[in-house]
Amino acid sequence: MRSTNLPNDAESIITSGVTRPRLTFLGVGPLGGTYAACYAELGYEVLGYDIDEGRISKFNDGQLPFYERGLDELLTKNLANGRLRFTTDIDEVAEFGDVHFLCVGTPSRPDSNSADLSYLESCVTSLAPRLSRQCIIVGKSTVPVGTSSWVQQLIDQHTSDGVDVEVAWSPEFLQESNAVQDVMRPNRVVLAAQSEWAQQLLQAAHKGVFELAAQEDRDVPLVVTDFATAELVKVASNAFLSTKISYINAMADLCEVAGGDVTALARAMGHDERIGQKFLRAGIGFGGGCLPKDLRALASRAQELGVGESLRFLAEIDEVNTRRRTRAVTIAAELCGRDVGPAGARMEGLHVTVLGATFKPDTDDIRDSPALDIARRLRNAGATVTVYDPKGIDNARTAQPELNYAKPLSEAVEGADLVCVLTPWEEFRHLDPAALGDIVSHRRILDGMNALDPQLWRNAGWEYRGMGRS
Ligand code: UDX
Repeated sequence: MRSTNLPNDAESIITSGVTRPRLTFLGVGPLGGTYAACYAELGYEVLGYDIDEGRISKFNDGQLPFYERGLDELLTKNLANGRLRFTTDIDEVAEFGDVHFLCVGTPSRPDSNSADLSYLESCVTSLAPRLSRQCIIVGKSTVPVGTSSWVQQLIDQHTSDGVDVEVAWSPEFLQESNAVQDVMRPNRVVLAAQSEWAQQLLQAAHKGVFELAAQEDRDVPLVVTDFATAELVKVASNAFLSTKISYINAMADLCEVAGGDVTALARAMGHDERIGQKFLRAGIGFGGGCLPKDLRALASRAQELGVGESLRFLAEIDEVNTRRRTRAVTIAAELCGRDVGPAGARMEGLHVTVLGATFKPDTDDIRDSPALDIARRLRNAGATVTVYDPKGIDNARTAQPELNYAKPLSEAVEGADLVCVLTPWEEFRHLDPAALGDIVSHRRILDGMNALDPQLWRNAGWEYRGMGRS
């Protein structure tokens, strides 16, 4: 197999003259749901599948079961033009598709940091026996390296004799809140397939992406590679991004004791193009459904393959990240004049308002959210905690029912002894410190993601603390 990013490959996909295969997406969570609607928009006939009947009926009614910017329009439009449908019937999926994309979740196992592949397994073993013509099953889910050959074995065990079914791999790199762009205009496409016909089918399934790029006079780098590399790209990238964040967060600790400002440090470092400005925002650390889980799964897989030593530093990246949450609680207590003993901070009698529950802005996702975890820790330290979030309150309430929730924002901050801005939503960046100062009991603010202008807040009489800013 080749490894290349020559534009000629993309060119040959566009001019190949192959007809568009019919696509299915198995698992229509934020990943598969976004892909299904976007590929319909790119001109493919698409069927989305899930075992969750509630989710499927919502999709078929034109409602998104999760929030993703710009996706609702694509859903409505492509349901109406008939290119997009959703079903819970696996027979229909088998009958419909030439290319089946596996988009189910691969969460951490309850007993270890390894990825749980049971959803993937049940998808393949229920689809394979029903297949009656040549097709490919393409992995998109994030998996441990080596999974594709196991999927091929499952296919071989469960497919009827004489039906040609091959596994292929094409990882995804969606960022929540930018997922539509990431599918329609990806910064790279990675493809792995075995036989010539499977490669052609896989390329045909991505033709729409390259056609759109050509129309818009853009390049989409294409990396055609082996299976192991294709499986590794996603986790290796996510572990690298996590490393960048934990690195700057470690520098934040250093800045605090040395009297520096980590935001200026990151800016100055990032002007070196080899380093870059992105993913150097210091604060309360990373969360979400991908970065923490992928970091741990990669370390665990490396251990299984006998190279755990080489990736041992990933455990430290994880620990630096978790310590950010403890650090935020310590700073919160210090701001309120409370001593922080060896057993941690005590915050009895204090009303704390936490602004932000989601793991980042522009999503309603609270999975492994540092903001919500810090809110929980503040409550455990004895504070009365009220949370406000523009989109995440419903999910947060389900996950952490013992916290108080309020909206609008003005109600949430009323009488607060401390305000903690923990998710950098646009709404919070533009808060008026003077107006807010009239509602709270004490003008104290913790800026957990260094999203505010310290001078502005201090000028309005607030005691301001960021993360890694002396
Ligand atoms: C991530 C990857 O970016 C994406 O490519 C992959 O496909 C899925 O995982 P996502 O989980 O949507 O995407 O979130 P991302 O934007 O990467 O942010 C992850 C976390 O890192 C958030 O909690 C965010 O607040 C934090 N972060 C990000 C920082 O703490 N500092 C930064 O500089 C950037």
